[in-house]
Amino acid sequence: MDAAIEVRSLRKSFKNVSVLKDVSFSVPRGTVFALLGSNGAGKTTTINILTTLIRADGGTATVAGHDVAASPDKVRNEISLTGQFAAVDDRLTGRENLLLIGDLRHVRDSAETASELLRRFGLEEAADRGVSTFSGGMRRRLDIAMSLIGAPSVVFLDEPTTGFDPEARNEMWRTIRSLAEGGTTVFLTTQYLEEADELADTIAVLHQGKIVASGTAGELKKLVPGGLIELTFSDKDSRDAASMLLRSGYELTEDEGPTLTIATDGSVAEVAGVFVRLRDARIEPAEFSQKVATLDDVFLKITGSTDREAE
Ligand SMILES: Nc1ncnc2c1ncn2[C@@H]1O[C@H](COP(=O)(O)OP(=O)(O)OP(=O)(O)O)[C@@H](O)[C@H]1O
Ligand SMILES: [Mg+2]
Repeated sequence: MDAAIEVRSLRKSFKNVSVLKDVSFSVPRGTVFALLGSNGAGKTTTINILTTLIRADGGTATVAGHDVAASPDKVRNEISLTGQFAAVDDRLTGRENLLLIGDLRHVRDSAETASELLRRFGLEEAADRGVSTFSGGMRRRLDIAMSLIGAPSVVFLDEPTTGFDPEARNEMWRTIRSLAEGGTTVFLTTQYLEEADELADTIAVLHQGKIVASGTAGELKKLVPGGLIELTFSDKDSRDAASMLLRSGYELTEDEGPTLTIATDGSVAEVAGVFVRLRDARIEPAEFSQKVATLDDVFLKITGSTDREAE
């Protein structure tokens, strides 16, 4: 099966600032792809190119089998975009916003489609109220509902849950999952790594104009060592003593608090070595735990180390 999105060596500069230097990735049909990157990394720029809003300076991109530069109209027929900032019309009600888009896209049963989407996004009760009275989360849900009219095969969501409370976020995650289950390809950007972890089949990290890592969440987590242990001490003296004791031989992270984080290779021998040293010095931690790598650790490691290399 061919890919829903295929990007090869994409380049884009604004004036003399090179935002995308060499970006390549591929998104299989019916899967969820998450593009991660810090503020200003070029996520929205990438989405803008793939949705034909702006043109790349070089490289190629196809969406739903059509080249974005050569056949932008064909691409537009296949996709929807929910931008980073809600595009709902405040002067209309929720239902009217949906009907308007339905008419623009020549949907035959736009009233029925609007009702169905209002139900699916939990906006039935508020449907006939002016959108100016909606909360941020409701506006965002309406915005995404609007983008689904016309059953696009590829959906672009630029930071779909930014500013959501946990409940609204969970609801949006369910919506995104059900889109993918229905065969829709979802391309999303997010600043919440947990969101990428939860939703994405494939994650790509955009940093300094390039994709510096990609894979499943599990594959990315293997990029950081799994052997971090955290020791918490009941008083400052024992914490300081432990820090002195372990500093030679281990990589320590410490702040003002009572906890020391120690990097090991994850082997029993090396972890045991930490505890043997502490026991021999009669220093007893109040608590200890092994830290499981999160995508945050991966992100910091990848983007942090590349920063240093660039200096
Ligand atoms: N039209 C433009 N003209 C000049 N510079 C631009 C333009 N659009 C984007 N940029 C610059 O390109 C860089 C990437 O911007 P972009 O919006 O793609 O980042 P982003 O990853 O989406 O960031 P955020 O997480 O803050 O949304 C930024 O430095 C931005 O200032
Ligand atoms: Mg952005």
